Amino acid sequence: MCGIIGYIGDKKIIPLLINGLKKLEYRGYDSAGICVRENQELRTIKSKGRISELESKKELNSLNPDLGIAHTRWATHGIPDEKNAHPHTDCKNQLAIVHNGIIENYSSLKKLLEKEGHEIKSETDSEIIAHLIEKFYKDDLEEALIKALKLTEGAYGLALISKNEKKILAARKGSPLVIGVGEKEMFLASDVPAILEHTKKVIYLHDNEIATLTKEGYQVKHMNGEYVNKEIHEIKYSVENLEKGNFKHFMLKEIFEQPQAIGNTLRGRIKNQLKLTLNLDLSSIKRIILTACGTSWHSALIGKHLIEKFTRIPAEVDYASEFRYRNPILTEDDLVVVISQSGETADTLAALREASARNAKTIGIVNVVGSTITREVNSGIYLHAGPETGVASTKAFTSQVLALLLLALYIRQEKGLALDKEILEEINLLPEKIQKTLEISDYVRTIAEKFKDSKNFLYFGRGINFPVALEGALKLKEISYIHAEGYPAAEMKHGPIALVDENMPCVFLATKSELSQKVLSNIEEVRARKGKIISVVNDRNSEYKNFSDFVIEVPETLEELSPIINSIPLQLLAYHIADLKGLDVDKPRNLAKSVTVE
Ligand code: M6R
Repeated sequence: MCGIIGYIGDKKIIPLLINGLKKLEYRGYDSAGICVRENQELRTIKSKGRISELESKKELNSLNPDLGIAHTRWATHGIPDEKNAHPHTDCKNQLAIVHNGIIENYSSLKKLLEKEGHEIKSETDSEIIAHLIEKFYKDDLEEALIKALKLTEGAYGLALISKNEKKILAARKGSPLVIGVGEKEMFLASDVPAILEHTKKVIYLHDNEIATLTKEGYQVKHMNGEYVNKEIHEIKYSVENLEKGNFKHFMLKEIFEQPQAIGNTLRGRIKNQLKLTLNLDLSSIKRIILTACGTSWHSALIGKHLIEKFTRIPAEVDYASEFRYRNPILTEDDLVVVISQSGETADTLAALREASARNAKTIGIVNVVGSTITREVNSGIYLHAGPETGVASTKAFTSQVLALLLLALYIRQEKGLALDKEILEEINLLPEKIQKTLEISDYVRTIAEKFKDSKNFLYFGRGINFPVALEGALKLKEISYIHAEGYPAAEMKHGPIALVDENMPCVFLATKSELSQKVLSNIEEVRARKGKIISVVNDRNSEYKNFSDFVIEVPETLEELSPIINSIPLQLLAYHIADLKGLDVDKPRNLAKSVTVE
């Protein structure tokens, strides 16, 4: 949520900050702003809307600053307009901040500051921080920042500059910040992509740490004043991974990257045996709880099926946002698996902390290397799916499902139970089968053309493919703004069938399974009510063809692996509908890639 970038050094600062913001735009895109220090004065320029609107501001062209900070916003407090856009300054325009997170006690702090004569200009919680720092600022900026932050409750990743000092200060509690280390230049960002074209050397700031960046270097202290020795990490991917290439949208590129992403999730982990370096004793585990949000929660639902099937250990799934507040019953015999593409989702992180506090064992299934969740779990499985930029998650989802399958099989192996050779062989064939599945893209577009103006969609699946129906419906909602719901196919007759008429497209996941015949009956029930049927099948001879308006054929695989293959036509359907409607596929309205606020 919200993107931050800061720079101090000799490069041209305005284009560097604007380009960095563009790389962070997936984190929020309702307004943007920049504040730079020029001739020991602060100059702030903001705009409503996308970064391109900020970029077009003429005032930017004449600036020649020595440092600067910038922000792209996803509104929490206050509407998306210029006044509420960051950076926020104090009353005297001597200091400016950009902030990611939420200051929960901002209204009481606001009253206090207004009583003391501060003039608060915006409706945001963030502006309060600038005035609090002003309250304490005499000649030591760092001391003022610490005093101010000690009064706040909530989360922050923030950058601070003052007209009097040639430095950038940064502080983190709950919202990610990364320092980029250069030669006689330093960078700050809420995520690596913003600075990757300039440096691959990064330092991850941890909670309660404060960093000071000058042209010559950096220093990091804990809020209690102690210096912290930070490790410098080398980023393994390059700028090309962050470009769209020949694809119209990141989402389409990421859908088409799934053969490689799945291959990377697999790499080195499967031969005759499964190799996961978990370094965690799982022998006493009696229960497994999977927790996540959004698309990752859907992969958790599939994970439950896989874990119970292969390990016979009871598994439960919880929304992280609910788990964290429901006083969960946990013991050291429980394993809590947190699943997150970003590794920064506030609710998932809080659920993890709840589990750790109650002595449960924890495993993270995460894509972003070095993210907060990866640092706080007992052990983890990286997805290695590569950077995912489209707000709607695609390749991370299928990689999560594979990682959960590997975890289930690994636990089975650790329990001394035999691994079926066929499933290992089928897993190794996945990249190839996904490649084949992608060939249906043009055909799916023809279906999308027929249904792009529909007002509603229903998705049906059974067993391990019910969560795939939920995920298909979520993808469509997120990027095409068409109302869609997913149901277990058998539930249809308990309510949703009332919605079915000749205007209702119904997508059925009807690939081979023990319940195929029953799904066929559900299809017939919809057909009897004139609903439009789109079925996903992997059996060329199946009767589905006779009952469906559109049949999407995907390669055959084992039922346990079918969610990975079956998700792909649904991703493509959502993508093509949104694209045909002319919508901003990669940055759907009201959404952001990484939800680091509650
Ligand atoms: O980074 P995470 O996997 O923790 O994110 C969880 C959800 O916010 C995310 O999956 C969201 O639902 C996406 N917009 C899905 O497309």
